[in-house]
Amino acid sequence: MGFNMRYLDLKRKIRDARMWAIQGITEAGSGHPGASFSAAEIMGTLYFRRMRHDPSNPNWSERDYFINSKAHSAPGFYSALAVAGYFQPEELRTLRQLGSRLQGHPVRYSEHQKHHSVPGIEYSGGSEGIGLSVGVGIALAKKLDGKKNRVFILIGDGESNEGQIWEASMAAGKFKLDNLVTILDRNRIQQDGFTEDIMPLDPIKDKWTAFNWEVFEVDGHRVEQIVDALNKAGQVHDKPVMIIANTVKGNGIRHMANNPQWHGKAPPKRQTEVLLEELESECLIAPSIIAGERENYEDKIRKVEREGVDMIHLDVMDGRFVPNTTFFADTIKKLRRLTSLPFDTHLMIENPLENIQDYIDARCDIITVHAEACTENEFREIQERLIDNGISPGIAINPGTYVPKWLYHCLHNLDVVIVMSVNPGSAGQKFMPEVLDKMIVLNKQLRQNGFRGYIEADGGIDATTLQQTYDAGARIFVAGAAVYGGGDIHGAVIHLRHKAEVALERRLLNHATQLNIRADWMKARKHILIPYANELRIEEELHAIR
Ligand code: DX5
Ligand code: ZN
Repeated sequence: MGFNMRYLDLKRKIRDARMWAIQGITEAGSGHPGASFSAAEIMGTLYFRRMRHDPSNPNWSERDYFINSKAHSAPGFYSALAVAGYFQPEELRTLRQLGSRLQGHPVRYSEHQKHHSVPGIEYSGGSEGIGLSVGVGIALAKKLDGKKNRVFILIGDGESNEGQIWEASMAAGKFKLDNLVTILDRNRIQQDGFTEDIMPLDPIKDKWTAFNWEVFEVDGHRVEQIVDALNKAGQVHDKPVMIIANTVKGNGIRHMANNPQWHGKAPPKRQTEVLLEELESECLIAPSIIAGERENYEDKIRKVEREGVDMIHLDVMDGRFVPNTTFFADTIKKLRRLTSLPFDTHLMIENPLENIQDYIDARCDIITVHAEACTENEFREIQERLIDNGISPGIAINPGTYVPKWLYHCLHNLDVVIVMSVNPGSAGQKFMPEVLDKMIVLNKQLRQNGFRGYIEADGGIDATTLQQTYDAGARIFVAGAAVYGGGDIHGAVIHLRHKAEVALERRLLNHATQLNIRADWMKARKHILIPYANELRIEEELHAIR
């Protein structure tokens, strides 16, 4: 994927940014959660991965610029800056308060403005439609000076009603500003309605193309697609680049998503903990392509990509660590051309250190090796090399194994722990329920010792065991036979997602009950809970709530 992606670490940082933003908003009792959340992946990918910038030296002359033109996403913008290292995230709790540096609309930082702004903010926003012009000015100046700085601008779709956007767009085309990338947060909501009702923008892609821009379109919540588009943008010459990021306003909190009501409203403070839990509970589904009919891997990947799965799980078996042989790095290299979906590679091989370079070169996004197959020193070396190459490192343990003591020295940079719930070797085996207790204990112990990565459940995951492993702390779910074993891949993926959602809703409802805000939560969440009412056994209760 390029530029040191480290997929799971990036996901985690974006999750952290959302969590800080929601704390700021609920504390303040006001703010714009919707726009902050639709742009969370965009800003996160820029700040945590793409841009050349230095939080310890915000005025670095070689830096890339970020202009947050649609300034309504301020809480999300502040939290991205904080997680990137510009200031302590705890300061988000002062959002919009008197005397705080974090006001409702961001203010450009300067010595003179230091009580009203934080280092890193390049542009004072709030009045819509202006940021693109400012960015065009910066980009043009850098180009004329022969400088390498790049300018990234975030604009909103509601904001695109402003005539000045189109004036700036013409100028960027005229001056062939190939050092400028604009990202449109296409969440389709403005103020209290939908953009296409208030002032239609479509065909938006044609409009930007007609203004002489190179246009890419992505799912704005898929970091791998944003990374891909930014990489391509770097190759464009003599034209500015527009990335249309299709997003969902309020994405991350299910009852706020795609609901104009939440454009500028804060959830009540008493719900904060439950909201944080929801943000922390995001789960990823990773089909294992060794399951089902033999080989035909390309076809299997294409089919699940259409269903919106999160990753592809690649089971490498060498016939020594496990009796079976599947495929190796050369196959992964070929499959890599098919998709930008993250590759979650599970190495069931002897001597992983000896072979690790092949899998790095095959551009996997996550590489997991077995604890039973390496020593502490070997694992440390593997981990270091993966991190240097922007790959998420993972460790896997067999059903009969507990994590080795030495792993506790490596938790800081560990992104995943696979807890096997079958003996590795083949797809389609029966889930071993005794693994659940181990997962619960392990999850707790790892967290207590500073692990901030993901627990991945692998082996015999189906609709039932997904919920069980979810409750035990897993957030990545490998599914082989459950996806490819029957005839209906589409139905299978929907079913697994539905079960993950039931597990989430149950968890949040329990949490709300403990906090004595059950009725309150159910009211806020009513339209989300209806499809799960039967499984959650809350039909009557829900019915009584208006
Ligand atoms: C087992 C593999 C698993 C497995 C998943 O050795 O690591 O990834 O194939 O397939 P199911 O879900 O069928 O157990
Ligand atoms: Zn696996």
